[in-house]
Amino acid sequence: MGVVTLKDALRRQKARTLRLANSFKGQARIKMSETAKRFVANTGSDELVKGPLTYNRDGMATTHNSDFMQDSLFAEAYALGKDTGSWGEEDIQWRAYVACWAADKAKSLPGDFVECGVNRGGLSRTVMHYVNFDGLDKTFYLLDTFEGLSEKYISEREKVRGIRPGGYEECYSAVRETFKGFDVRIIKGTVPDTLSQVTTDEVCYLSIDMNCVEPEIAAAEFFWDKLVSGAVVVLDDYGWTQHYEQKVAFDEFASIKGVRVLAMPTGQGLIFKP
Ligand SMILES: C[S@@+](CC[C@H](N)C(=O)[O-])C[C@H]1O[C@@H](n2cnc3c(N)ncnc32)[C@H](O)[C@@H]1O
Repeated sequence: MGVVTLKDALRRQKARTLRLANSFKGQARIKMSETAKRFVANTGSDELVKGPLTYNRDGMATTHNSDFMQDSLFAEAYALGKDTGSWGEEDIQWRAYVACWAADKAKSLPGDFVECGVNRGGLSRTVMHYVNFDGLDKTFYLLDTFEGLSEKYISEREKVRGIRPGGYEECYSAVRETFKGFDVRIIKGTVPDTLSQVTTDEVCYLSIDMNCVEPEIAAAEFFWDKLVSGAVVVLDDYGWTQHYEQKVAFDEFASIKGVRVLAMPTGQGLIFKP
């Protein structure tokens, strides 16, 4: 192997950065200033995360404190979510922990909980246990087709990125079983068509996870005025490369509403209702 000088390494890093910027061309008009290019180049090093790692899954690796993984309440809640089969063989603890934090903050606000994009209920079941949902005077609205994505809401750009109809097994009766006895309203069908079945006027926790821009933005629009002050919106797909169109759409949505999305290293985005 030849000797790689610092200059070579910087040249390669710059080429990688430009390739990254070019890959976005045509999907969004991104103009990177020289300062922004230097910033990306300086933070794009493959060697940034040196072990020992405390967390290394689901698209993120870190050496930072991950004590929540040992928290017994979180562990119990996560195990219940995992048992639903929503995540298959995957583990998504940090994402689940972020949702639990949001729900815990929301639980003392007026209003109900909503999730659009439930699959088998993994995230919602985790959150419900974490906040002892039974002890709250709230309803959890769970909206999904319970049979995957609908072709009519997938844009051409999303198709190019590999977003396809279906993709999830039919799970309506399994979800009914999971949430039996809880104060939930399970609403089957495509968002945005089913949104009017959510009858509450106040929402304090909104999780959006449908892997597809149009229904997600429609849900955000529908609930925006119903979100109470301090409510948290958890956008599961915001930072994922395959869902780049969502980032563009939610940044625009947020800007119209006068807020900003907090980009999380987990790939999630958070919005706090003023
Ligand atoms: C990633 S999964 C949700 C996972 C869930 N939040 C969890 O972590 O357990 C995405 C879900 O969105 C649902 N979905 C996609 N498009 C939808 C639409 N237009 N209306 C309703 N549900 C939709 C799919 O059926 C699928 O169950």
